[in-house]
Amino acid sequence: MARITPVGATADTPAPACVDAGGRICRAQELIESGRGVRFMLNTEHGPQSAFVICYAGGIYGYLNKCAHRSIELDWIPGEFFDIDGQFLICATHGARYHPATGACVSGPCAGQALVQLKLDLVDDEVRVACAVRPAMS
Ligand code: FES
Repeated sequence: MARITPVGATADTPAPACVDAGGRICRAQELIESGRGVRFMLNTEHGPQSAFVICYAGGIYGYLNKCAHRSIELDWIPGEFFDIDGQFLICATHGARYHPATGACVSGPCAGQALVQLKLDLVDDEVRVACAVRPAMS
C-alpha cells in the first residue's frame, strides 16, 4: 500500500498545505482501515484550521483536528488518531474517545460533545472536502 503523504508534504516534511472547499486531500486507497490518517490544513471562514481524514469500517470520514474538550489537536503522533484497538479516535492529551464514524465523544472529559465533522466527496478515488464544516452527528 502506498505511503500516506499529507497534501503538500514530502515524507520528511509533514507540514500540510492549506486546502479550500473542493480541494483534494489524498487518494482514498492511501487511507488504511483504522490506521494512520492524513492531516491537512483547511481554509475556513475562521481562517486555516488543522483537519484530518481517516478510514473506518469501509467509510472515509473527516474532522477538524480539535478536541471538543480544549480545542487541542488529537493525534499523539502526526496522523495517528486511533486508539490501540483501532475502534475509536482518541485525544492524546486527556484521553477523550470519539466514534470514528460520527465524531461523537463516547468517553472522557467531553462526553456528550462531538468533533466537528467535514463533508467529504469522493471523486475518482480522490478524497475532497466538499464544503464548509458541519456539526458531527451524535
Ligand atoms: S484536550 Fe482532548 S481530552 Fe482534553
